Amino acid sequence: MRRARETAVREWRNQDSADTFRARLGPFPALIRRSMTTRITFLGHGTFEILTAGKSVVIDPFFTGNPAATLAAEDVSPDYIIMSHGHGDHIGDVIAIAQRTGAQVIASHEITEWLGARGVPNTHAMNTGGSHGFEFGTVKLTIAHHSSMLPDGSNGGSPCGILLRLDDGTIYHAADTGLFYDMKLIGEEGIDLAILPIGDNFTMGPDDALRAVKLIRPKRVIPNHYNTWPLIDQDANAWAERVKSETTCEPIVLEPGQSTSLS
Ligand code: NI
Ligand code: MN
Repeated sequence: MRRARETAVREWRNQDSADTFRARLGPFPALIRRSMTTRITFLGHGTFEILTAGKSVVIDPFFTGNPAATLAAEDVSPDYIIMSHGHGDHIGDVIAIAQRTGAQVIASHEITEWLGARGVPNTHAMNTGGSHGFEFGTVKLTIAHHSSMLPDGSNGGSPCGILLRLDDGTIYHAADTGLFYDMKLIGEEGIDLAILPIGDNFTMGPDDALRAVKLIRPKRVIPNHYNTWPLIDQDANAWAERVKSETTCEPIVLEPGQSTSLS
């Protein structure tokens, strides 16, 4: 058992909320999951598990070789996987997990073609600006200012951010991106929770991520894509203090393995 699950069991024994216990334990039988409010668990770097409407949705499943991961690829059993772009620190373990679980992989057309040619049978191709309804909610792919080459040099299409409209709120995972003014348009959709990179070098750093909060105006924000390697070390708590003092948004700093609820 990995640390996150041990923590979850300990909290349950301590009569912590059943909600926290259920969300942190990881994959659940569908019957147990169905009644929960949406739970968001940070799994390190850019990887998140979202439990919503009785389904497990994992974004950018990067476990093997991820120094920040608290779980191994075999510890997650998603119903759906959403890919933001083709880089190795996001594609990660997607092939092994999709083959083992049969999870449907939602990604750009170029990535789903590439996965299909590598034995991933269940994919759903989308592209920038498009929305589609799934069992757990609606996915819309947004622009992201980044690149998207796949690990073998193949074209990964356009990098994307991920907008999730769920039963109890809307999540915007910006994924790897620099700051762009159209974040204001994304914010007009009414964002309950934004997930923004703060690591700098490959993505926005703390200053631009703070400007992003001001454009998006989410109710809450989780920083990600930092402290995985020394090159992207950042003080997330210091950034959170700036968010608190300069905006009305509530920052939530999660350690890998920790989770929060959407509503
Ligand atoms: Ni990237
Ligand atoms: Mn990345």
